[in-house]
Amino acid sequence: MYDAMAAVYDELMYDVDYEGWFNYIEEIFDRYGKRPKSILEMACGTGNLSYYLARKGYDLTCFDISNDMLSVAYNKLKDFSNVTILNQDMTEFNILKKYDCVISICDSINYIIDKDELVNTFKRVKDHLKDDGIFIFDINSHYKLKNIIGNNIFVEDREDVFYTWTNSFDEDENIAEFYLTFFIKDKNGYYKRFDEDHMEKAYTVEEIIDLLKKAGFNKIDSSDFLTFNTPKDISERINFVVLV
Ligand SMILES: C[S@@+](CC[C@H](N)C(=O)[O-])C[C@H]1O[C@@H](n2cnc3c(N)ncnc32)[C@H](O)[C@@H]1O
Repeated sequence: MYDAMAAVYDELMYDVDYEGWFNYIEEIFDRYGKRPKSILEMACGTGNLSYYLARKGYDLTCFDISNDMLSVAYNKLKDFSNVTILNQDMTEFNILKKYDCVISICDSINYIIDKDELVNTFKRVKDHLKDDGIFIFDINSHYKLKNIIGNNIFVEDREDVFYTWTNSFDEDENIAEFYLTFFIKDKNGYYKRFDEDHMEKAYTVEEIIDLLKKAGFNKIDSSDFLTFNTPKDISERINFVVLV
């Protein structure tokens, strides 16, 4: 999973506007009348959203399953006294604290391939939320994984990284598999090769709602990413807002 890629993750995500994403999350808080003080961020990766949450002064706990990703996050977050960084697995985390808000962004939820494990994740979220808590997450849509990313090959040629992204989509299991090959330039100018295999499950909006309900949530809104509009058949990223 996210091993060698951690070192180049931020360079590969150069076109993702994390500050805009942070503003969208704050707009959600406003629309839902929430003023959270404590936030738990699941699958924080290299801490790109965490940085803006920390800077705003939230009491932030963030975790990920990859130590390589967390060590990059640590460098961004080490000067904030309001941040705790942990290594935990979304499907079975236990932090012994309740939060005003739980967040997970950038399709991390698609990495949970098994439906029972996703229900477990949602149950763990519910157990970590206060009575008036809010849970915000997004997924890569079924449409995007099947028709745009799956069965496709991407090549990216950047200053210090060259990589190919060879994908397949399993229509029976609704799983997109990404086979990534990186050539990363070291300080002597030599390129070193790394390979990683990632998988994302393509969930429909209805499946996610059903699994949230199985975990005990009933107030569930979904919208086209960065809007508050109902998702369309061709929406590529879908945002969920779930209230306790
Ligand atoms: C696409 S990255 C998103 C990272 C970050 N949220 C961002 O916005 O850049 C997916 C992240 O999910 C993490 N992840 C995958 N499965 C996980 C699990 N079961 N528990 C915790 N983190 C997980 C990966 O290590 C990776 O950092």
